Amino acid sequence: MYKIAVIPGDGTGPEVINEGLKVLEALAKKFKFQYKTETFNWGGDRYLETGNVMPDDAIEQLKKFDTIYLGAIGHPNVKPGILEKGILLKTRFDLEQYINLRPVKLYPGVWTPIKDKSPEDIDFVVVRENNEGLYTGLGEFQDKGTKDEIAIQISHNTRAGVERCIRYAFELTKKRNKKKTLTLCGKTNVLTYAWDLWQRTFDEVAKEYPDIKTDYAHVDAICMWMIKNPEWFDVIVTDNMFGDIITDLAAMIQGGMGIAAGGNINPNGVSMFEPIGGSAPKYTGKNVINPLAAICALGMMLDVIGEPKAAETLEKSVIKVTTKMKSMSAGKMGYSTQEVGDLVVENL
Ligand code: IPM
Ligand code: MN
Repeated sequence: MYKIAVIPGDGTGPEVINEGLKVLEALAKKFKFQYKTETFNWGGDRYLETGNVMPDDAIEQLKKFDTIYLGAIGHPNVKPGILEKGILLKTRFDLEQYINLRPVKLYPGVWTPIKDKSPEDIDFVVVRENNEGLYTGLGEFQDKGTKDEIAIQISHNTRAGVERCIRYAFELTKKRNKKKTLTLCGKTNVLTYAWDLWQRTFDEVAKEYPDIKTDYAHVDAICMWMIKNPEWFDVIVTDNMFGDIITDLAAMIQGGMGIAAGGNINPNGVSMFEPIGGSAPKYTGKNVINPLAAICALGMMLDVIGEPKAAETLEKSVIKVTTKMKSMSAGKMGYSTQEVGDLVVENL
């Protein structure tokens, strides 16, 4: 019996999560596994009512589950940062979900803005460090509000944190068994503390994986290569901030936010899966948002909790559905949100 915490969240989050849960129900019947869900109403509306983003014992509650399924966080009436830090980043940090895993796969029938590239060319995974770097909130203002003001934002990298992320990336490259190439994406030419540590750790761990080819690209250059030669990449490992940026770029080449899924993974604890796009407030309640990103996030979840066959079947069904859809963008799919969910269920 899998215990799943569901946080539908803000905006279109609840709509896409509903479609995911529909697919989950169908897969549970087909593959004969059992699960129970508990829904948490954490998000912008609750914050505006209570002044609290999550209850004090939220993390303790989440620890009792096998996994977490998250819709989207972000509300137009809440100042940027409050919900993101209070819910999303807090959960990632406090549950030590130190990997942010973002597969970048162009499915058949999905339009990519890169001319002459097809599904064979776009199939890689970004392993983003998820607990450190610029995201720790370390820093300060000096002389705030004056003309001499200084704002300092620190990138905090620990050997242990970097190493566990790099090790995960090597293991994943081995398991994927595709090009067996792991690319470190950094900025060794300028950020000479952080990326010196990353590069040294990478080189040391690489010695334990003689079968895996290693490569390095500066973060600016990788933005160029990802567009020009996406077929070069197999697995990319990078820090929190660079990973945040390059995965939005990567999401576009796989067809956009409508299809891009991610997992916040603690390999020894409770992980959380989410579509990587935001809450898309302007599409809320219109039944037009693409639920495939949330459905693909469900697939990642099933794979991690121990239902890889269900995950594989889900992906095959998604591929059948993408070939029928007109577009991955909200309102242009040729189907409603609910119809896309139904199609995935029918094609399982
Ligand atoms: C993401 C998002 C978050 C991040 C925001 C909402 C805090 O952009 O999941 O990529 O920066 O990690
Ligand atoms: Mn982001």
